[in-house]
Amino acid sequence: MIVLGIESSCDETSCAVVKNGKVLSNLIYSQIEHFPFGGVVPEIASRAHIKKLVPLLQAALDEAGLTVESIEGVGATKGPGLIGSLLIGLSFAKSFAYARGIPFYGVNHLEGHIFGTLVDVSPNFPALGFIISGGHTHLYYIPRLGSYKLIGKTRDDAAGEAFDKVAKALGLGYPGGPIIDKLSQGANPEYHRFTSPMRGKGLDLSFSGLKTSFIYFVQSLSKSELETHLNDILASFQMTVVETLIEKLLEASRITGTKELIIAGGVACNSLLRRRLEALKDEGYNVYLPLPMYATDNAAMIALCAEFHLKRGERSGFDLPPEPYAPLENLL
Ligand code: KG4
Ligand code: ZN
Repeated sequence: MIVLGIESSCDETSCAVVKNGKVLSNLIYSQIEHFPFGGVVPEIASRAHIKKLVPLLQAALDEAGLTVESIEGVGATKGPGLIGSLLIGLSFAKSFAYARGIPFYGVNHLEGHIFGTLVDVSPNFPALGFIISGGHTHLYYIPRLGSYKLIGKTRDDAAGEAFDKVAKALGLGYPGGPIIDKLSQGANPEYHRFTSPMRGKGLDLSFSGLKTSFIYFVQSLSKSELETHLNDILASFQMTVVETLIEKLLEASRITGTKELIIAGGVACNSLLRRRLEALKDEGYNVYLPLPMYATDNAAMIALCAEFHLKRGERSGFDLPPEPYAPLENLL
């Protein structure tokens, strides 16, 4: 089956074409329009999606060597995400499917992230799915693909959000994750010991307190100490986040008895996190990490997820509304 995917939940506009689980094209426009504001401006995001969708669709078809007529199904993100942004991609996808007389499926963005990690790999089930992004830090038990039980989540900020807010507080730019990752290279992560949040308190996480203690610590330093040790402080922060994530993941593995670990979302690009997770392979865990282009928001993951559901005969109506807070929990 040849499926067109559309992603527009936040500040990435993306179109992709997949065929029987293989990605034929995956084009992403990361909106630079937000840079002067240090974060995503919803109204600007919606307008940028409108401008970019049609040229991206054409480019995705060209790259796949296909025409509009060859598309057999359409998937688009229905949520969670920004309502205006979702509305653009969803309306576009529904119109396309309606006009062509082909089936449409509204994809949960979180389930899409799981499929981003499964490009060209087939894990064993049951597995754990850990979605670590700018909006979510959600831990799922997955008995089989398409069935999800939420077993832990952040009670406040997401892990990516903590990276972004810490970088913003220091005026380092946006998004903060890649910037902090880069500045931490070769720095001393033992320079300052931040308290690991929610340690030993079940599977829920929290990053807001860590962010605040980081900001207070930075404010307590002299200008020269901050200048000399900025990278060490960032590396210390990064290590605390990564250690917390690994600790919760291993606790979930112990509780559920599965060593199949599917890691998804933008923070899965983090080099320290990837090194730590790769090391778990020597301890009998099967760790599945996404390629960076499938970790951050992209339409290939949406198209693959839509193809999975469409092949099972599942369809969404053309009256499907955007769902800004769509939960992912359907233990079937
Ligand atoms: O999955 P994603 O593209 O969007 C959401 O659905 O939220 O994730 C974006 C998040 C941002 O918070 C960004 O700072 C973070 O992923 N991120 C990273 C890295 N690359 C992206 N965080 C830590 N280290 C990175 N290398
Ligand atoms: Zn995402």
